[in-house]
Amino acid sequence: MIFKIKIINYANPEKLIFIKKIWNIQHDHTSQISLIIKPHRIELQNNLINSKKNIWVDFNIKKINLYKLDKKIKMIQAIKIKNTFNLNILDATAGLGKDAFIFVSYGYKVTMIERNPILSILLYDGLVRGLQNNDIKKLIKKNINLIYNTTLNIHQLKIQQPDIIYLDPMFPTRKKSLSKKEIRTIQNIVGYDTDADNLLLTCLPFAKKKVVVKRPKKSNYLANIKPNYIIPTKNHRFDIYVK
Ligand SMILES: C[S@@+](CC[C@H](N)C(=O)[O-])C[C@H]1O[C@@H](n2cnc3c(N)ncnc32)[C@H](O)[C@@H]1O
Repeated sequence: MIFKIKIINYANPEKLIFIKKIWNIQHDHTSQISLIIKPHRIELQNNLINSKKNIWVDFNIKKINLYKLDKKIKMIQAIKIKNTFNLNILDATAGLGKDAFIFVSYGYKVTMIERNPILSILLYDGLVRGLQNNDIKKLIKKNINLIYNTTLNIHQLKIQQPDIIYLDPMFPTRKKSLSKKEIRTIQNIVGYDTDADNLLLTCLPFAKKKVVVKRPKKSNYLANIKPNYIIPTKNHRFDIYVK
């Protein structure tokens, strides 16, 4: 499927040809959302929201240190397994890669899957810039990678079976986990992940140890399957399915 978006290219033409080829995107001058390809960074400009600031992916340790400690601790609690280190996590709903990079900053290996071409381009660009940054390039090289995949058949991908699968699908009631501007832009681009029930059903047999689902606080269980246990946070909860 071709994804249409306004494309503004300030970089060399080869970069645009590469991007169009890999992610199958096409220029649409009527789109209110623009993909701005600069020589040093790829950004998204969303004219549907009242914000002048563009969006891009930054894998940046300093930024992570600014995130609420409580949020990070709960996420790590949800992921971790007693006395087991070196877990590998499949983040099957990568979005802007924020949660994935929190896991990486705590020493986990993460494979990100993103099916939306635009978000996948931003993630790719974030990784490329991360590899040029002396503070994090080792971490990026060793512990994080990205797969652009548009199907639900993640068990058919040529990847190692993950210990943990992490899911954070987009829901209509979600409000606060990303800043308003970012969450609204993801909504404008991907809509809602209405097939999230099926994603959980695909992931349950594939994960070696557990599947962790981030959900709005009062929402129903994905696929109506009761988790083994729940870790609540202020605005969300983590539903944990143990294998
Ligand atoms: C709420 S966002 C995730 C935000 C992310 N946790 C972060 O920290 O930036 C949900 C993302 O999951 C992606 N997604 C949903 N279902 C997917 C699937 N089956 N395969 C790959 N990506 C999927 C959507 O395209 C969207 O970008």
